[in-house]
Amino acid sequence: MTQSILVAGGAGYIGSHVCKALVAAGYTPVVFDNFSTGHRPFVKFGPVVEACVSDVTAVKKAVTEHKIQAVIDLAGSIEVAESVRDPLKYYDNNTAKKIPFLRALTESGVKAFVFSSTAAVYGEPNAIPIPESHSTNPTNPYGWSKLMFERLLHSTAAATGLRFMALRYFNAAGASLDGEIGEAHDPETHLIPRACLASLGHIPPLEIFGDDYPTPDGTAIRDYIHVMDLAQAHVLAVTKLLNGEPSGTYNLGNGIGTSIGDIIAAFARLGFPVPHSFKGRRAGDPSRLVADSSAAREALGWSPRHADVDTIISSAYRWHEKNQPKNKVSA
Ligand SMILES: NC(=O)c1ccc[n+]([C@@H]2O[C@H](COP(=O)([O-])OP(=O)(O)OC[C@H]3O[C@@H](n4cnc5c(N)ncnc54)[C@H](O)[C@@H]3O)[C@@H](O)[C@H]2O)c1
Repeated sequence: MTQSILVAGGAGYIGSHVCKALVAAGYTPVVFDNFSTGHRPFVKFGPVVEACVSDVTAVKKAVTEHKIQAVIDLAGSIEVAESVRDPLKYYDNNTAKKIPFLRALTESGVKAFVFSSTAAVYGEPNAIPIPESHSTNPTNPYGWSKLMFERLLHSTAAATGLRFMALRYFNAAGASLDGEIGEAHDPETHLIPRACLASLGHIPPLEIFGDDYPTPDGTAIRDYIHVMDLAQAHVLAVTKLLNGEPSGTYNLGNGIGTSIGDIIAAFARLGFPVPHSFKGRRAGDPSRLVADSSAAREALGWSPRHADVDTIISSAYRWHEKNQPKNKVSA
């Protein structure tokens, strides 16, 4: 019999790719999602429970009925700018609602937990690439809400014997290479899907925030990681925990800094020119975020297989070309 993994947020962009990778590795993913931003057509890899993570009764029932061995938690609210406008939404959904979730899981005997954290916990970095030992000082409520949950995990693990892996993602991008699932947020705020949509004429020209950063072309530099590589890291993390490995916190990025200018140039090179204009910098956007993921490579045995930006962009573009504007996306 296969082992069942509860995937909170499994109807979302990254969560659905995690479910697909879990099936490929021989696990049964059980999606646990309230569909606040998730997509029903993305739930195609196993059973689904429709509920909020704070619903203790539903969590305990799901663990018992599906004989859950481990949990991967990707449920959350993800928009940085919204978190500045409405911080309590973020502290509520990303931190407070996770307290009854963790309590229900530990009381049900769950011992292994993988958490979607973020590079936003670091704030403005003082070293590039950024190791996990870098200080944490988020510049927005989204980053704080995630960092606070990491702290909750540490304390809960010390008290209960839960083991966890907190995975700090850099910029997730791309779509499954077979075109089955892709990135769909509403509103879409991420660069690569917005560039696809602008190139396809589904939204107005792309606005690029800042062309005067201290970078070679003046645009901000980020570390883009293919969502399938990210998903594979979750499979490795959950397998390690099920095999009794200790807790850990790991960056997930390729260690390659790519500027927004590089991304626009790559779209054009691939035949998908992106109409765009430049705006002023956004407050709190660091000039460079690049991961040192050597710890994840060593501890998880992880190595990204789709790191080149052309694969990331072309998989995203193909998915958007086929699926948008069927999926509603606000400009
Ligand atoms: N996309 C990125 O580049 C990125 C980077 C760093 C971290 N992350 C983290 O990865 C996770 C997944 O991101 P995504 O891009 O797939 O977002 P997404 O919005 O596509 O997926 C989030 C999923 O969580 C569900 N959800 C939200 N609140 C819930 C609740 N209270 N109870 C049950 N389900 C709930 C939503 O319905 C959705 O299916 C998030 O936690 C996000 O903070 C994403």
